[in-house]
Amino acid sequence: MSDWSSKNPYLGVMSEKPLLTSTASTKETRHMVMQLGDSGLTYKAGDALGIIPENPQELVEDLLGLLGFSGDELVETHVGEADLRNALTHKFEVHRLCKKFINGLGHKFVVSGPEVTVRLVGRTRTSLSTGENTLSWDWSGDEDDYPSDFLPVGVSSDPARELWEGLVNDAKAMEDYLWSRDYIDFLADFPSLSFTPQEFVDNLDRLKPRLYSIASSPDAHPGAVELTVAIVRYHHHGREKGGLCTIYMADHAALNDASIPMFMSPTRSFVLPADGSTDIIMVGPGTGIAPFRAFLEQREFDGATGRNWLFFGDRTEADEYLYRDELEAWRKSGHIDKLDLAWSRDPNVPKTYVQNLMAKHGEEIWQWIETGAYFYVCGDKNYMAKDVHQTLIDIAEQYGGMSPDDAKEFIEKRMMKEEKRYLRDVY
Ligand SMILES: Cc1cc2nc3c(=O)[nH]c(=O)nc-3n(C[C@H](O)[C@H](O)[C@H](O)COP(=O)(O)OP(=O)(O)OC[C@H]3O[C@@H](n4cnc5c(N)ncnc54)[C@H](O)[C@@H]3O)c2cc1C
Ligand SMILES: NC(=O)c1ccc[n+]([C@@H]2O[C@H](COP(=O)([O-])OP(=O)(O)OC[C@H]3O[C@@H](n4cnc5c(N)ncnc54)[C@H](OP(=O)(O)O)[C@@H]3O)[C@@H](O)[C@H]2O)c1
Repeated sequence: MSDWSSKNPYLGVMSEKPLLTSTASTKETRHMVMQLGDSGLTYKAGDALGIIPENPQELVEDLLGLLGFSGDELVETHVGEADLRNALTHKFEVHRLCKKFINGLGHKFVVSGPEVTVRLVGRTRTSLSTGENTLSWDWSGDEDDYPSDFLPVGVSSDPARELWEGLVNDAKAMEDYLWSRDYIDFLADFPSLSFTPQEFVDNLDRLKPRLYSIASSPDAHPGAVELTVAIVRYHHHGREKGGLCTIYMADHAALNDASIPMFMSPTRSFVLPADGSTDIIMVGPGTGIAPFRAFLEQREFDGATGRNWLFFGDRTEADEYLYRDELEAWRKSGHIDKLDLAWSRDPNVPKTYVQNLMAKHGEEIWQWIETGAYFYVCGDKNYMAKDVHQTLIDIAEQYGGMSPDDAKEFIEKRMMKEEKRYLRDVY
């Protein structure tokens, strides 16, 4: 046992991070190997590893420059006092703009003209002409010095305030605005705003650890944890951007340098059947393959006699067949009894998702389930896992001779809750 946790992470070493996708791929998925050294950290197939990333140094320096701070200013954070550079690097997420920050700007919008100061304080306004409650204001100045909507023709309004109002009053506009922007983009759009160091950090999102399903068995790779990581990269507003943790691991974490804060996140539910003679069906497209590589390694190490059926998929066979050599070797050796591959953007085959192949093999899936097989799903929660879930219900209905309601109850109540042999690791 070890005491490492998200609050007290082990500083581990990444020893390798080769590409799993080809250099021609439209995606970048990497195999990352972390060495556990003398940490005492242990895990089992099915567990996840937590990584605590940091914001890129250049981004923090650019932000400090634009804000006019040295970085040495002290600020109060949720974990105590820190200098601003440290806070922006380790305590908050500054790679993406957050809603709380935008919502918290109300007190900043001061419209000033000759003898006019207007502070927007809420989202409802009292219309001066009708008395209707739509937006409330407080202001100081003369009676006829009204907010800009009511300013006389020829007096210009503040575009930054208009932009801000548009965002806080329209959830879709807010979502679109936040999607592609960070604080550097924000400062460009709101050049007139200034902040004290404390004001700037007060409404930032706290930096959160990220979890990664472990792709290795501890018996096959003693002392190491292996991950399958899809790197999030995108280009918006003239700059390269990306996911906080994946960019940190892909671009900034040096190999063989004991500096990556990590901890174990054990699972109680997403585990292999205790009886090795039980068959298992695994559905894991994209990075969803990770825990199934661990399961397959573990079952091989254990000499488990149950059959293994894997559904994997990604964009193309040529460029995104993750772990091709290992999976093909297992198929050849018979360790993988059945391997079904779904390519969604392969010019050589019709667009196929894993659930299409499940439906095609529905009768055989049902036979495996009827004889006690476990059914596992890993990967995208929002689309893939929902479609796979429905396909499983359809299979129970079609081949189990059940009504739609009974099929749903069989999958969701009996298999999932009572027998605990329909298990999901979705994110
Ligand atoms: C239990 C569990 C297991 C997981 N296992 C794995 C795993 O094995 N492998 C793996 O790769 N991930 C896994 N994840 C996901 C992982 O934890 C991270 O969420 C993922 O790596 C992204 O983290 P990030 O910090 O790089 O991105 P973040 O900084 O968190 O950013 C991701 C966000 O960026 C935004 N985004 C994405 N594309 C664009 C775009 N083009 N333009 C604008 N915004 C965009 C989206 O809002 C997206 O949600 C797992 C998650 C959980 C909860
Ligand atoms: N909830 C989340 O935030 C979340 C979850 C998973 C992945 N991601 C992110 O997405 C990126 C890539 O992830 P990934 O490589 O694991 O997988 P992925 O890109 O999501 O997809 C892997 C395969 O699944 C296919 N797919 C898409 N929709 C599907 C559906 N409804 N049913 C079945 N298959 C479907 C994809 O096809 P097409 O792309 O051709 O449609 C692709 O062939 C990463 O950046 C990861 O962090 C985010």
